[in-house]
This record gives sequence, C-alpha cells and structure tokens, in this order.
Amino acid sequence: MRREVLNAGIVGVGVCVPDRILTNAELEHMVDTTSEWIFSRTGINERRLTGPEQATSDLATVAAGRALTNAGINPEEVDLVIVATNTPDMLMPATACMVQERLGIKKSAGAFDLAAGCTGFVHALTVGSQFIAAGSCRTVLVIGAETLSKMLNWEDRSTCVLFGDGAGAVVLRTVPEGSGILAFKLYSDGAGGPHLLIPAGGSRNPATRETLDGRLHFLQMNGREVFKFAVRVMGEAAEEVLAAAGLDKSDIDFFIPHQANIRIIEPAARRLGIPMEKVMVNVNRYGNTSTASIPLALDEAVRDGRIKSGDYVVMVGFGAGLTWGAVVIKW
Ligand code: UT7
Repeated sequence: MRREVLNAGIVGVGVCVPDRILTNAELEHMVDTTSEWIFSRTGINERRLTGPEQATSDLATVAAGRALTNAGINPEEVDLVIVATNTPDMLMPATACMVQERLGIKKSAGAFDLAAGCTGFVHALTVGSQFIAAGSCRTVLVIGAETLSKMLNWEDRSTCVLFGDGAGAVVLRTVPEGSGILAFKLYSDGAGGPHLLIPAGGSRNPATRETLDGRLHFLQMNGREVFKFAVRVMGEAAEEVLAAAGLDKSDIDFFIPHQANIRIIEPAARRLGIPMEKVMVNVNRYGNTSTASIPLALDEAVRDGRIKSGDYVVMVGFGAGLTWGAVVIKW
C-alpha cells in the first residue's frame, strides 16, 4: 500500500464472453453429476465456453477495445498493456503483445502478462496503478482474460463443472485526488501451491507422451483445501485493505468478491456485515472465470447502476499460488 496510488482510477470498463452457454443440465450427460449438486455446492447454473477457434487473446482484445470505447480513449493513447491470465494463447510470446498489435496500440507501449492465479486481476490493477502513480504512464490497459475450459479435464467432475471462459478489461488514468484506488494489499503462500495447479507444460514437466497420458496438462485442484483457505482470507483481506485506506467495514458501498463459489462469497459478506444486495454475484451465470471474474462483475454492477459515483468499492480475489489480494476504490 502506498499513498501515491491515491490518484490512479478506473475510467472505462469492457467485457467479452463467448456466446456458447454450457448448462448444468448438459453437464449431467458429460460426467457423473447432477444440476442439483452443482448448484447447491457452488451456486453455478451455467458458464460460457470458447470454441476451438477462440483463444484468450481473442476475448481479451474485444474486452479491451470495449473498455477503451467506454472510456472515450483511442488505442494510440495506451502506454502499457497488462494481461492477467493463467491460460495465455502460448507460453510465449505474451498474450498482452497480441492485444497490443491487434488493437493498434503504439509500439512504444509496454506489454506483458502477469501470472498470479485467479488473483491476477487484482495484481494487474495494482501494478498498473503504480505506473500511473509514478508518472511513467498516462493510460494503462488492465485485462483479466481466461479460457480455462481448454485446460480442464472434462472427465474430472470435481473441476470441470466449476470454471468458465471470459474476459474483462479496465482503463486506468489519473483521477482527482481522494478518488480512484485508495489502497491495496497483495498476499502469497507458496506452500499452498500444490492445492491448485497445472503440473505439466512448463520447465518442470515439459510435454512428453507420459505427461499427456497422465493428463498432467489439465488443471488439478484440492477443492476442500482451497475452499477453507478462501473462506478464511476473503473477509480478512477486505478488513485489512479497508484499514489501510483508513476506512471501516460500515463504509463499504459495494463488495466485488472473486466469483468462485456462492458458499465462499456469503460467509465473507456476513463477516463484513454487508447485506447481499451490496454484494456482486454472477457466478450463477459465468462460473469461475478466474482472472476475468472481478472485471466481469464490475462491468455488470457499473452498467446496472449498483455502483455509483463516490461509492467505496472493495474487490477481493484469491487463487492459485496460493495468492490473494484486495483493493479499495472510491468510484
Ligand atoms: O478460483 C479459485 C479456485 N477454486 C475454488 O475456489 C474452489 C474452492 N472449492 C470449492 O468451491 C468446493 O470445495 C467444491 C465446489 C470444489 C467442492 O465442494 P465441497 O462441498 O467441498 O465438496 P467435496 O469436495 O467435499 O466433495 C463432496 C462429495 C465427494 O464425494 P464423497 O467423497 O463425499 O463421496 C465428491 O466426490 O461430492 C463429490 N463430488 C461431486 N458429486 C457430484 C465432487 N464433484 C462432484 C460433482 N458432482 N461435480
């Protein structure tokens, strides 16, 4: 947390989700599960899926273009592109470079990907805000984009029912003092890494016949451990970021938690004493979209007027790493 981030704020939001909807009822024909199990354990009814022709950069480019349009800013004005993702188009080059090229953003703009599990958007927002606070960038594009459906083992009912694809983007610029990003907190606990991972495809386990046969290129998760961790850190991180901003739980006007499971969101809201009408929930329609979940939720809340100018908005993410983090914004 740094005082100098006081004047970096979000001036535009945009999203992109694939058209294809996969319902719980369809999943009943794919794995040994029921709609009732999925909904009662997670709050998810349906999720969006990319087709074989769509990759993360496709969703990211559309979401970013919409965020720029909504901000009334030309792509040439962007100084830095950060894409938070766990599912880049390729291991290299960075997906952010593809977005830069496809949006016609100038070559003097920086572009890089950021990996921090599902907390990636909170990290990218924080990193982007620091470039603005330091005066080295005027306009920063921060994107959370994901096609986790491509990294799921569609025979593993404990994971394949949970995730969905999508992208969300925000444009950061200097905003009047006292508004914008007031405080942030980032956390990590690498000891929890084995609870949520894609074991192969990197330098530890490069692709071989054995890694393919062992299905090691797909996401693996110890759901119960991640669940316990998430319930603990969600409220804790929100409280700590509020304290860092000199605010209290009662000041929260709107809460945007990472959309992984309604049974993680509700206890966090209870701990913070926030009624559910001040809590964004769209996990029912999108499932867990990882780094895209917070910007997808933000876009919806801004569009339907649930977030108004002057509101204190708290965002909290958690995910692989293990990582977690929180941001408080005066909208
Ligand atoms: O972005 C961060 C990433 N991840 C998360 O946030 C996920 C955090 N974890 C969770 O949300 C929950 O732990 C899950 C939704 C993944 C699982 O819910 P749970 O209440 O923790 O269930 P469980 O893992 O304790 O499993 C209960 C039972 C098991 O059967 P037994 O061992 O009790 O006989 C599972 O085999 O449910 C079974 N099960 C299923 N049954 C029907 C697991 N997946 C399914 C399924 N359909 N899809």
